[in-house]
Amino acid sequence: MTTTPVIIFCLTMAFLVSGAHLTTITITNNCPYTVWPGTLTGSGAQLSTTGFELASKATKPIEVAAPWSGRFWARTQCSADSFGKFTCATADCGSGQVECNQKGAIPPASLVEFTIAPNSGQDFYDLSLVDGFNLPLSVTPQGGSGPNCTASNCKGNVNSVCPPELVVKGSDGSVIACKSACLALNQPQYCCTGEYGTPDKCPPTNYSMIFKNQCPQAYSYAYDDKSSTFTCTGGANYVITFCP
Ligand SMILES: *[C@@H]1O[C@H](CO)[C@@H](O)[C@H](O)[C@H]1NC(C)=O
Ligand SMILES: *[C@@H]1O[C@H](CO)[C@@H](O)[C@H](O)[C@H]1NC(C)=O
Repeated sequence: MTTTPVIIFCLTMAFLVSGAHLTTITITNNCPYTVWPGTLTGSGAQLSTTGFELASKATKPIEVAAPWSGRFWARTQCSADSFGKFTCATADCGSGQVECNQKGAIPPASLVEFTIAPNSGQDFYDLSLVDGFNLPLSVTPQGGSGPNCTASNCKGNVNSVCPPELVVKGSDGSVIACKSACLALNQPQYCCTGEYGTPDKCPPTNYSMIFKNQCPQAYSYAYDDKSSTFTCTGGANYVITFCP
């Protein structure tokens, strides 16, 4: 009778060892200022954090149990008011707290998007400026294999070339983020809606090209298909860098 618990214990340990494929996503803040990264799980297990403070030059690893999909971004110029309500000048998630609690970034926000496959299958990742831009960022695989298993960088500063109709200004009057044309102008040709609702009917625009010229490897609008998605197989880990 005493062997049954032992067998169950052994089976449980075998499952935990073989079934636990963890991908490490390490977040690095290379900006000369503090940022508050946010995480949003689309599918899969919740992460250990949905938002945290990351000082300049600091690094934080996050373990992801595959299969998982979701996104990462960084909030800037955050503070708590006298009632303790936490808000950020860019990419706020509206939770009122440092943790985003399953709320996404309020645009404009530069995004990193992941789909992590189970069993060291094919992961997909990309940088997206479809929801606008607030700061430069990159994603770099470590290990993994495949022809498209390479770093994706968005090092350009869209804020410095943002046209007035898309600009978001901070309290000191400086440009702190750049809205997408869809968000700012809400017209179907910029949002790829209505008669522009399919990839072949929604070409790049003069506005999406401003984002594309600064960050050629990032999605610049909803149906941007110019070599923007990256893939790795073999259980890569990833480093996200803000201000690479
Ligand atoms: C983009 O094109 C539209 C429509 O032709 C024009 O109104 C707008 O001023 C242009 N904006 C920029 C930044 O070139
Ligand atoms: C790599 O990217 C190219 C260009 O986007 C694509 O044609 C090809 O299928 C991709 N290969 C893999 C293994 O994902």
